[in-house]
Amino acid sequence: SAAEKGGYDYFMLKEIAEQPRAVADTLLGRIDAAGSLSLDEVRITASELREMDKVVIVACGTAFHAGLIAKYAIEHWTRIPCEVELASEFRYRDPILDPRTLVVAISQSGETMDTLMALRHAREQGAKVLAICNTNGSTIPRESDAVLYTHAGPEVAVASTKAFLTQLVACYLVALYLGQVRGTKWGDEIQAVVRDLSHIAGAVEEVLGTMEPVRDLARTLADKDTVLFLGRHVGYPVALEGALKLKELAYMHAEGFAAGELKHGPIALIEEDLPVVVVVPSPRGRSVLHDKVVSNIQEIRARGARTIVIAEEGDEAVVPYADHLVRIPVTPTLLQPLVATVPLQVFACELATARGNEVDQPRNLAKSVTVE
Ligand code: G6P
Repeated sequence: SAAEKGGYDYFMLKEIAEQPRAVADTLLGRIDAAGSLSLDEVRITASELREMDKVVIVACGTAFHAGLIAKYAIEHWTRIPCEVELASEFRYRDPILDPRTLVVAISQSGETMDTLMALRHAREQGAKVLAICNTNGSTIPRESDAVLYTHAGPEVAVASTKAFLTQLVACYLVALYLGQVRGTKWGDEIQAVVRDLSHIAGAVEEVLGTMEPVRDLARTLADKDTVLFLGRHVGYPVALEGALKLKELAYMHAEGFAAGELKHGPIALIEEDLPVVVVVPSPRGRSVLHDKVVSNIQEIRARGARTIVIAEEGDEAVVPYADHLVRIPVTPTLLQPLVATVPLQVFACELATARGNEVDQPRNLAKSVTVE
């Protein structure tokens, strides 16, 4: 009913709008007054976590994209090697697991069969499993050694939005907590990131307030067949997520690429007026990557692409090459996906509506897939 949708036309719009609160709720009570993480609820002891020599993340769909982003954070902040694998592939290739492997299973519903089978396999091999889950008491957390719940609240729309942002927050918390208990040399940085995380809900709110031009743009693209997405570093999984959203909702051909791979194949796809969404890394910090992605935008535009550029406020280098420019607030590099994903969700939702599709219940898809 309209009341359930809180005045929005679709659950998806309501859930997109709820993201700042979902992010804040997922942080709530997990950062103490001194700015340290307190995750006592995670029933794997600090000494067990100190013993871990590998992290393996398993998940499906949007949750898998959260895992891909988590890898950058976990390896950077903890120096523990981290692999990310589609849950449906994992157990069929005889993965190397032992009691020093921390397996992180990410699932909004907690009922995805592929993810459940992956974690069962991991536990049989003696690995410890930490679930990141949005549904209290669901099967995946019940069968895991420990759980960190995301507090997105119920997600009704099939295409995941607020659950994804909270999965990212939970992944950052796990990464920072691992760093904290293991006392990595990034100690100061960890404190700063914890502070930045506590401001991120406001940044998401800011993005939501500036989405009208993105909706207008989406409507003009309703008759396109293909949209490409490019990103680099943590922007690469964001590009994959943008493409997935467009497939799920708009039933369009959409692909995400690592910007550095453009020259190894995808650039052959560029033709006159092809929309290409580019997620630009921050010009601060890892500025080498920023400059390389700006060159990519130039290259595709010279070949006729219609460039839709998602770039940080104050990034002037992109201006000459952006047919459409979407600004996102300045965030630390590793946290950028929390703000960069939001315009892609809005874009896909609006394109779906413009194409006359059912936004909350896309054809052929289910909210939780309980078969392998
Ligand atoms: C289904 C949904 C996706 C979701 C995936 C994983 O395919 O349509 O939106 O990302 O399952 O779901 P989970 O509940 O495990 O996060």
